[in-house]
Amino acid sequence: MNSKSYTPIPMVSGPVSAHPRTLAAMNHDFGSADIESDFLPFYQKVSRKYAQLARTENDVVLLTGEGMLGLWGGLKSCLSAGDRVLALGTGVFGDGIGEMAASFGCEVKALSFPYNTTLNRYFQEIEAAIKEFKPKMITAVHCETPSGTLNPIAEIGEMKKHFGVPLFYVDAVSSWGGVELKADEWGVDILLGGSQKCFSAPPSMTLVAVSNIAWEIMQQVGYQGYDSLLPWRDIYRDGRCPYTAYWHGVAALGAAADVILEEGMEACFARHKQVAAMCREGLNRLGVGLFPDEQAVQSPTVTAACIPAGYDFKSWQAALRKHGLVTSGSFGPMLDKVFRLGHMGTQADPELMRQALNVIQTVLER
Ligand SMILES: Cc1ncc(COP(=O)(O)O)c(C=O)c1O
Repeated sequence: MNSKSYTPIPMVSGPVSAHPRTLAAMNHDFGSADIESDFLPFYQKVSRKYAQLARTENDVVLLTGEGMLGLWGGLKSCLSAGDRVLALGTGVFGDGIGEMAASFGCEVKALSFPYNTTLNRYFQEIEAAIKEFKPKMITAVHCETPSGTLNPIAEIGEMKKHFGVPLFYVDAVSSWGGVELKADEWGVDILLGGSQKCFSAPPSMTLVAVSNIAWEIMQQVGYQGYDSLLPWRDIYRDGRCPYTAYWHGVAALGAAADVILEEGMEACFARHKQVAAMCREGLNRLGVGLFPDEQAVQSPTVTAACIPAGYDFKSWQAALRKHGLVTSGSFGPMLDKVFRLGHMGTQADPELMRQALNVIQTVLER
């Protein structure tokens, strides 16, 4: 898959090595999306493929911009100052989303748990907080990329439905396309994705699945701003996107979805699990500890491991890079303690993982 990667053994947690078909799809002199009648039907077709990948009937908006654009847009479009948000955090992004909502005046109750754990440990506390705080929105992160963990979304979705919380916002930036999602069954109203993770497309396309209730609430909130999602609701009726559409980016996303759908969703998710297991067994064999604790659910898309004694991230990365392996570091409290192997999309590849583990072994045996 990685015929022309920037690095010989790319194992970063994103942007992952782009799939050649996504690059080929972009390599075309598309016309103006405002003028050509082909664009909107194409956009709609691509958008429905992403709905299929998340098992949702909801609209999926394809925005030009990084994952953070969708994260901000999803919050600001649905919430006004004073609205209550229950922010569930087991990592940098979960806590960060709560801080984002607080920054424009929302009343945020942040349930912040240790970054090496997942929400399955805290269902009782979460339920009690929902009952007591009565939020308008619950926010959670499916895959906490910096921690290498996967939070249970179905159970939180059940609580959301049971207690009649209007909105459930889920960051699936590094899980959509690599892990099974059942957005409708789980009651997700705002589901967020990014092109550069499991989809193996170049960065700077964001996907946001929006429920009908979320659209209605956005209408009531009436947020106006570059990141507002509302202008995207009526693009088919209006016959155009609110801003200059990035046809190339949509084409890359179209190719990326085709790659997954042709492989088969089940097969694709199974491949991610298989390579994740191979990674963890390999690290274990080499005596490299994993960051998540034993009760945490580890993500099939990224592994967070402890940087071996005697190294900080810079020196560890330099040692690996000499043998062609590039990994990611981590953030916040994990800085210089944790390194990550991203095995999502093109990088969920057993041969690539075998090479990565060989390099780690070589460096450790020096
Ligand atoms: C879980 C998660 N959410 C959001 C983002 C933000 O995406 P972007 O860097 O494209 O803005 C990332 C990026 O790594 C992520 O891992």
